[in-house]
Amino acid sequence: MVLESLPVIHDALAPILANKQATDAIWIVGAAVVASTAIRALLFLGNTIYTSFLRPAKKLSKLGKWAIVTGATDGLGKAYAKALAKQGLSVLLISRTQSKLDEVAKEISDKYKVETKTAQVDYSKFSEDVAANLRKTIDSLEVGVLVNNVGISYTYPEKFDKLDEATLRNLVHINCDSVVLMSHMVIGQMDKRKKGAIINVSSASGLFPMGLLTVYSGTKSFVDFFSRALSQEYPNLYIQSVMPFMVVSKLAGLKRPTWNAPTPDDYVRSSLPTIGYEDRTLGYWAHKVSGLIQYLPFNLGEKFTYNTHADINKRYLKRQARITAEAAGKKSQ
Ligand SMILES: NC(=O)c1ccc[n+]([C@@H]2O[C@H](COP(=O)([O-])OP(=O)(O)OC[C@H]3O[C@@H](n4cnc5c(N)ncnc54)[C@H](OP(=O)(O)O)[C@@H]3O)[C@@H](O)[C@H]2O)c1
Repeated sequence: MVLESLPVIHDALAPILANKQATDAIWIVGAAVVASTAIRALLFLGNTIYTSFLRPAKKLSKLGKWAIVTGATDGLGKAYAKALAKQGLSVLLISRTQSKLDEVAKEISDKYKVETKTAQVDYSKFSEDVAANLRKTIDSLEVGVLVNNVGISYTYPEKFDKLDEATLRNLVHINCDSVVLMSHMVIGQMDKRKKGAIINVSSASGLFPMGLLTVYSGTKSFVDFFSRALSQEYPNLYIQSVMPFMVVSKLAGLKRPTWNAPTPDDYVRSSLPTIGYEDRTLGYWAHKVSGLIQYLPFNLGEKFTYNTHADINKRYLKRQARITAEAAGKKSQ
């Protein structure tokens, strides 16, 4: 069809192409588009290099004596806790498992010579009593930094109706309620002192809708909007939405780093110095590059991500079916 219409297009363009002034104008417009795209690409590259490697970081220990980190015993939370202790902040570590909390608290206080406290909290059961107790502890501390890091995802990408109710509730309670309530516990004292930082760990899954991770994607976009709106209300505070792509962790199911999936320590080393400069960050140079996917036309980014998730779903279910069949075979022998 296109080929058939080529002579028609050629005939239609012929008078324009025969006109030197018209072809000169086309060349000029074309060159301007190419030049402006090249300048924008260079500016993006320069900005990414400057903000990722060269810009001086804010001194976070000036914001208050204590940092609080939720989900602090593994992955990104542990990395944030270590990085903040390294800057001289004492750390209140929060997660579910007391033995892991004790281990990380000891590791941090031994290495960085700062005070540590722990609070055993399961955010899937964050009752009024548990919250009131935690609020009492927090009220007794001068909190400079809160990292709302705790979060869970799906075991594998799946359609919404296949998820059980407990999983749905956990995703919303752990990923959203924790962020709202923890922020509420510290913001009054930060606002009074006119200093403090709240770092909300969202996800690149909150950049645009990601089907087959629908609830995770929705909760992370909630964290992002909550964070950005809160930042408007409290311009004196540093309130940041952090939106990583893949980082090596249990949640991500990744054991080894790659060029675009750093270790949690490397990710935090890169994202922490953006505090005070960026209210919303992808945090790591390779993630900033991956983030360009959101600007592709015709929702190509969304379509590509959906197809990738559908593929992972198929492979996961196939592997599970094989494991079940092998187990059944062994039983019957
Ligand atoms: N890793 C990635 O690729 C990636 C990408 C984008 C965004 N993120 C976000 O980054 C955050 C951290 O992820 P991660 O990969 O570092 O996770 P992770 O390695 O699985 O660590 C999760 C931490 O949260 C704690 N935790 C889990 N469930 C909890 C609960 N119900 N109550 C209290 N604490 C709980 C865990 O300790 P216990 O088990 O002892 O409680 C652990 O300390 C999450 O919000 C995630 O959505 C991660």
